[in-house]
Amino acid sequence: MTSNKLLSVSSLKKSFGGLQAVNVDSLEFSENEITSLIGPNGAGKTTFFDLLTKFQNPDQGNIFFEGENVTSFQSYKLARLGMTRTFQLTRVFEKMSVLENMQFSGSSVKNESISRSLIKGKSLNNFEKELEIEVDRILELLNLSHMKYSYARELSGGQKKLLELGRALIRKPKLLLLDEPLAGVNPKLAEEILDIIKNLSIEGINIIMVEHNINAVMKISERVVVMAEGKIIADGEPEAIRNNENVIEAYLGKVNE
Ligand SMILES: Nc1ncnc2c1ncn2[C@@H]1O[C@H](COP(=O)(O)OP(=O)(O)O)[C@@H](O)[C@H]1O
Ligand SMILES: [Mg+2]
Repeated sequence: MTSNKLLSVSSLKKSFGGLQAVNVDSLEFSENEITSLIGPNGAGKTTFFDLLTKFQNPDQGNIFFEGENVTSFQSYKLARLGMTRTFQLTRVFEKMSVLENMQFSGSSVKNESISRSLIKGKSLNNFEKELEIEVDRILELLNLSHMKYSYARELSGGQKKLLELGRALIRKPKLLLLDEPLAGVNPKLAEEILDIIKNLSIEGINIIMVEHNINAVMKISERVVVMAEGKIIADGEPEAIRNNENVIEAYLGKVNE
């Protein structure tokens, strides 16, 4: 089986003991879209991201990225192909500066770039300079330039989310998987992060985002996919999803439990 879609999965399953956390028959993502993945707590959204990016292995199923069967690929290889994620609970290095956090992530693309630079006759020194120029560009984009030399632990929760995003961007992703990028962020910064995500999409980075802030989801997404109990229960344009009875029931069901 091949596919010319950006990303597609078939029969993707993961259980924890008796609990079927993810059970997705078939799902495809196209290029140039912001897709939001929503659903009640425990629906399986993070586990789905974990399977896509190989932070966990699926029990069964196939994953295709740009037409290539990547089911057996490990995380680092997927990242190298352009598939990068952020985490619901940020994973920045608290005892490193913002710059060092960025350089650390940049070093994953470094080895390949270094070989390329050397072939082109550039020095290592040049490579370090180029990386720092790119770090500066991204920090500027994220409004974090003034924190460049601060420890990550000095950042606010929202700024840590931004740094996490920056660490993903330094890897030059084609596809960004964002797990709750607005969670715990104040409304003003959330608005800023949304604008940044929108701009990344306009620049050609494909986005799949798990997010609980429904207003934000409706505002920014071209497509909304809804998960409940591991399965996809709805998939469509934001307006249609807002009025979908299965979706309303999935959320209300949880509230009443
Ligand atoms: N490592 C794990 N071990 C056991 N159960 C897990 C594990 N990770 C997730 N789960 C369970 O799988 C279900 C889906 O979790 P998760 O993917 O985190 O949902 P969501 O991100 O949609 O809130 C939940 O019932 C959760 O308790
Ligand atoms: Mg989650």
